[in-house]
Amino acid sequence: MAQPPWSSSFRTLFFIPTCLALNAFLFILFYTSSSSSSSSSSSSSSSSTHTFFFSPPSQLRQIPTQFHDSSIPLLSSTQNLSLEDANGGPALPHTQPSSSLPSFGRRMHEQTKGVFHDEDLFLEDYKEMNKSFKIYVYPHKRNDPFARSLLPEDFEPHGNYASESYFKQSLFKSHFIVNDPKDADFFFLPFSITGLRNDRRVSVSGIPDFIRDYIFSVTHKYPYWNRTGGADHFYVACHSVGRSAMDKSSEAKSSVVQVVCSSSYFLPGYISHKDAALPQIWPRKQDPPNLTSSKRTRLAFFAGAMNSPTRQELVRVWGKDAEIFAHSGRLKTPYADELLRSKFCLHVKGFEVNTARVGDSIFYGCVPVIISNYYDLPFGDILNWKSFSVVVATSDIPSLKKILKGISDEEYAILQSNVLKVRKHFKWHSSPVDFDTFHMVMYQLWLRRTSVRLRLMD
Ligand SMILES: *[C@@H]1O[C@H](CO)[C@@H](O)[C@H](O)[C@H]1NC(C)=O
Ligand SMILES: *[C@@H]1O[C@H](CO)[C@@H](O)[C@H](O)[C@H]1NC(C)=O
Ligand SMILES: *[C@@H]1O[C@H](CO)[C@@H](O)[C@H](O)[C@H]1NC(C)=O
Ligand SMILES: *[C@@H]1O[C@H](CO)[C@@H](O)[C@H](O)[C@H]1NC(C)=O
Repeated sequence: MAQPPWSSSFRTLFFIPTCLALNAFLFILFYTSSSSSSSSSSSSSSSSTHTFFFSPPSQLRQIPTQFHDSSIPLLSSTQNLSLEDANGGPALPHTQPSSSLPSFGRRMHEQTKGVFHDEDLFLEDYKEMNKSFKIYVYPHKRNDPFARSLLPEDFEPHGNYASESYFKQSLFKSHFIVNDPKDADFFFLPFSITGLRNDRRVSVSGIPDFIRDYIFSVTHKYPYWNRTGGADHFYVACHSVGRSAMDKSSEAKSSVVQVVCSSSYFLPGYISHKDAALPQIWPRKQDPPNLTSSKRTRLAFFAGAMNSPTRQELVRVWGKDAEIFAHSGRLKTPYADELLRSKFCLHVKGFEVNTARVGDSIFYGCVPVIISNYYDLPFGDILNWKSFSVVVATSDIPSLKKILKGISDEEYAILQSNVLKVRKHFKWHSSPVDFDTFHMVMYQLWLRRTSVRLRLMD
């Protein structure tokens, strides 16, 4: 007889990543709330200014002890605010108190630990997932008036939000699909947010109504939703409007797993312990010929629209620097060359928390620097981001050069070789291959197949 999925080993598997995600969340929440983050003087109107009004609920700030186990590193030049000092809690028994290690040693420890939080656990559990995970997709007729948004797409995914289409195409080609919903662990809600957004009958403002009606029909036509209140249902979206898809379906919002690119902790649409981050990846076919051979002579690179106070601050401080290239607007040189020529590539929060820059940076073998508070980094419950990236609090932009130059050649070599190791997890394929983005997303879902509810109806 098969082991029931609520057996203790499964619980542990589910519990660890949840804790990691929660710790990371608390860490960032605490850090940013207790350090001066309002470098924004010139915030005009963008939503990103909300960052500075957010005050975390007090009970969250008081949860002690676990900050040093956070899965996301924040390298601060103003290390006086030691986290241990700040919260006063004791260290976890199994972790070395981070204050007893010099920051260099601590970082080296993280970087050499490997790109996974626990590789053996992951590989074993991945195999199990690959073998037994089953997804049911709600079916739709070819002549459905919204068939274009509901049925699998047959075009080549393109543009900034390609991840949504790639996921759907990969899923339909994969062995995870079952025809009998009785066998399913999860139910996929197949609406395409990009499709609805481009459908004049719906458009951006109509998406929440469309989704409300869609969920109404699914809950009345099929028995599956009601068994769990939708907790074993999920949808996938990359455009940020997808995050508000459930705005008029409040019950669904609190239960359905949202796999979205715009995985910002602080915006109300994203619920960090339930939802999952989807990497935003620009579609690319060929690997660059000089991925490993290129000489990385520039310290750091950024180019992009000045659509947030964080980016404005970056360009204000570093716009004229010789070593950090921080460019406002479009480049005159090829983007790929800049990514190949730089040691560090900056991901700086814009209007949204996510952009394709993290994926770009990894694709071109450049070590990503995340300057974006409240970002639930993709696959953060599987991958050890400390081993292949640098996370800098937005309030530390003035110390950026000091932080990056504080990373030795030896440390950099480890970071960069780890970037090359995680590359395959940030790639889509026209037919999915093991450990690619599709399989990593499936694994995230597998981790969230919830601490199983008894299905009272079948
Ligand atoms: C950090 O500590 C040093 C020495 O104790 C002090 O000079 C410096 O002003 C402190 N920095 C901050 C940001 O508190
Ligand atoms: C995952 O499943 C596919 C299809 O059964 C199989 O070809 C592949 O080898 C499996 N991968 C792993 C790592 O188990
Ligand atoms: C599911 O629950 C809703 C709300 O209680 C109810 O209206 C609906 O008929 C139920 N669906 C099915 C298929 O029984
Ligand atoms: C990488 O290779 C491409 C194609 O050969 C070339 O155009 C480009 O200049 C090279 N870039 C770097 C940074 O070496």
